[in-house]
Amino acid sequence: MGKKITVVGAGNVGATAAQRLAEKALGDVVLIDVIEGIPQGKALDLAQAAPIEKHDAQLIGTNSYELSAGSDIVIITAGIPRKPGMSRDDLLATNRKIVKNVTQQVVRFSPKAILIVVSNPLDAMCHVAYEASGFPRNRVIGMAGVLDSARFRAFIAMELKVSVENIHASVLGGHGDTMVPLPRYSTVAGIPITELLPPERIDELVARTRSGGAEIVSLLKTGSAYYAPASAAVEMAESILKDRKKILPCAAYLEGEYGIQGLFVGVPVKLGAGGIEQIIEIKLTPDERTALEKSAAAVRELVDAMQKMEG
Ligand code: NAI
Ligand code: 2OP
Repeated sequence: MGKKITVVGAGNVGATAAQRLAEKALGDVVLIDVIEGIPQGKALDLAQAAPIEKHDAQLIGTNSYELSAGSDIVIITAGIPRKPGMSRDDLLATNRKIVKNVTQQVVRFSPKAILIVVSNPLDAMCHVAYEASGFPRNRVIGMAGVLDSARFRAFIAMELKVSVENIHASVLGGHGDTMVPLPRYSTVAGIPITELLPPERIDELVARTRSGGAEIVSLLKTGSAYYAPASAAVEMAESILKDRKKILPCAAYLEGEYGIQGLFVGVPVKLGAGGIEQIIEIKLTPDERTALEKSAAAVRELVDAMQKMEG
């Protein structure tokens, strides 16, 4: 039987993800949004591209959840994005309510789905989806590390003028200013970048990675990045749908791993048909561990702030 993927939020990230899912023929796609006409119009437009793009994925746009029933994967992009001057955390109060409501509706119709959360502030929204769904932790996964490490990889490739395909990069921690790019675990054809670039230059690339989202917000002015975020969510979906068991940095609910308890934080995980099939614990230096703890503390602050909010 073919796979079914629902994308909630037919805005920039959601519609681009729907396009990539269909064009990679990963399954049929249901696009949901609260705005009447938008998911229907975008799904129809994408369906009309199918003969040219040569895929047979069915694309459905809707404002209700009935047609999403039995989805294998649900990608949640519903919410508001950042505007210039806003941090991801400014989105907390609004997106918390949206993600809670969306998750409750999703699980009614797709109780066995794997959730990929994209809405910001990412790590906090993973908590909302985890609690609202009641799903086990292997089926609630946040997209951030794949994007942040892709940004780091792109900057390393630009710097060294080599193919992006030769570059692996690792970014741990929350999806915010405290994220933890790991140069020691970032390689070009297997060679750590610490052997290829001077420390000051690596620091600059790390800083650009940390503010990669803000750099795009300041250029676009009306919203935030969506091409790379959509690619990142679809890479995660593909690894799950095809049971590829890729090791990818994702926000996962930690229960003692890395010394962190009861919090979504970005770590390397194995993604396969079961969702998160393994959380991989890599060795960290004391400095890297301190940076990860600082990042986890920033996520904890948001989760605590949400718990004080009503409704
Ligand atoms: P957008 O504004 O283009 O699209 C969001 C869509 O969600 C809109 O079409 C809106 O109508 C819809 N929506 C709002 N409330 C809804 C509800 N209750 N049910 C269904 N749909 C609803 O925003 P964009 O650029 O697509 O970003 C979406 C979210 O993803 C934002 O919160 C953004 O900050 C986040 N994001 C996260 C990234 C990450 O790395 N985790 C990367 C990029 C974006
Ligand atoms: C990004 O990193 C806004 O979280 C979004 O581009």
